[in-house]
Amino acid sequence: MDQSQAPLLDAVAEYHRRGRYGFTPPGHRQGRGIDQSVRDVLGIEPFRMDVLATSGIDDRLARNSCLVDAEQLMADAVGAEDAFFSTCGSSLSVKAAMLAVAGGKGGLLLGRDSHKSVVAGLIFSGVDPKWITPLWDAERHLAHPPSPEQVEQAWQDNPDAAGALIVSPTHYGTCADIAGIAHVCHRRGKPLIVDEAWGAHLPFHPDLPTWAMDAGADVCVVSVHKMGAGFEQGSVFHRQGDLVDWRHLAACADLLMTTSPNVMMYAAIDGWRRQMVQHGKELLGAALELADGLRTEIDRMPGLHVLDEELRGNTASVDLDRLQILIDVSETGRSGYQCADWLRENEFIDVGLSDHRRILATMSFADGPDTGKRLLSALTRMREALPDLPHPAPMSLPSPQDLQLETVLTPRDAFFGPAELVPAADAVGRICAEQLTPYPPGVPAAVPGERLNEAVIEYLRTGVQAGMAIPDASDPSLEQIRVSR
Ligand SMILES: Cc1ncc(COP(=O)(O)O)c(C=O)c1O
Repeated sequence: MDQSQAPLLDAVAEYHRRGRYGFTPPGHRQGRGIDQSVRDVLGIEPFRMDVLATSGIDDRLARNSCLVDAEQLMADAVGAEDAFFSTCGSSLSVKAAMLAVAGGKGGLLLGRDSHKSVVAGLIFSGVDPKWITPLWDAERHLAHPPSPEQVEQAWQDNPDAAGALIVSPTHYGTCADIAGIAHVCHRRGKPLIVDEAWGAHLPFHPDLPTWAMDAGADVCVVSVHKMGAGFEQGSVFHRQGDLVDWRHLAACADLLMTTSPNVMMYAAIDGWRRQMVQHGKELLGAALELADGLRTEIDRMPGLHVLDEELRGNTASVDLDRLQILIDVSETGRSGYQCADWLRENEFIDVGLSDHRRILATMSFADGPDTGKRLLSALTRMREALPDLPHPAPMSLPSPQDLQLETVLTPRDAFFGPAELVPAADAVGRICAEQLTPYPPGVPAAVPGERLNEAVIEYLRTGVQAGMAIPDASDPSLEQIRVSR
């Protein structure tokens, strides 16, 4: 295919060239109606570009097929058979994939390190999770994706499940042995979904971890806004092979998608695909070089340690996206939460993830020596300032065994069933009726339907006191927890 084309970008340009006008939504009429105070902040361009998809950039029957053409170009660029654009992030795309594989069919094998959007998919769909315990690094309190052997074991325990879903790369950049897991699934004629929200860039540079489609996954979902240049929410799901019918996948996505997609999101994905095909190797190569240099320099700073070898080489995480610079700050005696807050307040820098002992700087192809230098100077000043900060509130970290909560009800039954809010201490031994998710990384510590234990409740409660955010809890202070009645 002619990868120099960008049909959606062209269609937006053509809309304006022809001076089209719609007596249709959006009601702001390409910015005519917006208040000056809004224009002062957002400018006019976002509104000018906000036009309808059908009866806007394309006609009412989508006869110019600009969206379909852009999706095919994307599939062609990354070696998938089909690609679908979505405007509600991987949070939507992953649910569409789950519905297509397991909707109405019962069970799905799932890494217990899945993102909360996957658990939301279980609640919506009624699909029964067959959890695969991730490999826990008890020393660092960090989960690795499941290994092929663990997935094989899960298949032996649940031979009737409809398919498997794993997350790779994780938020930390650690990557599963996708080829090994795909092989295990395909031996049984079952499909593998990969939540590759953090991996949109992987197909475009050979030194990055293997891209899920190349490793044989049947469906994979990426957030273009995370590691690519899409607007927030821009996501693509890719499909190949005979195990997942593309029409059914498209129909499942249609159940969830908006009827009013923002074409700017689509057009940005389209343009990014062209950019990556034409310049991705060079741009990502430079980003990797920059990240490698930063990794070395940060690791030399007393008290800071960049996690690298300790993240791979075990049976689970076989590779690492080096653009994710995961910095262990525990030797400084201060927490990742304190470091993240200090950087935001004093250096006006935000990091993507912080926890009791780490911060994560996510590099992108858009970074350069100037932003790298800014990160280094900020970390240097942070290190100097840390001794003046109070010691962090102690956190009670559960053992890997304690983190494995017993599943008593399906997430759907627990979420929609009779429930009540009880004081946290009284929730021990009760069935959780909500997601309790430290965010980021967004992996629920408790899923609806799991029996809560004291260790997990203590972890979350002491975590909140130390700076952890649990935004999906009914009571984010965790004084109370929603449990089944
Ligand atoms: C592993 C994983 N899957 C899915 C998502 C959801 O992606 P989005 O923010 O594009 O909806 C995230 C978001 O952080 C994630 O980390």
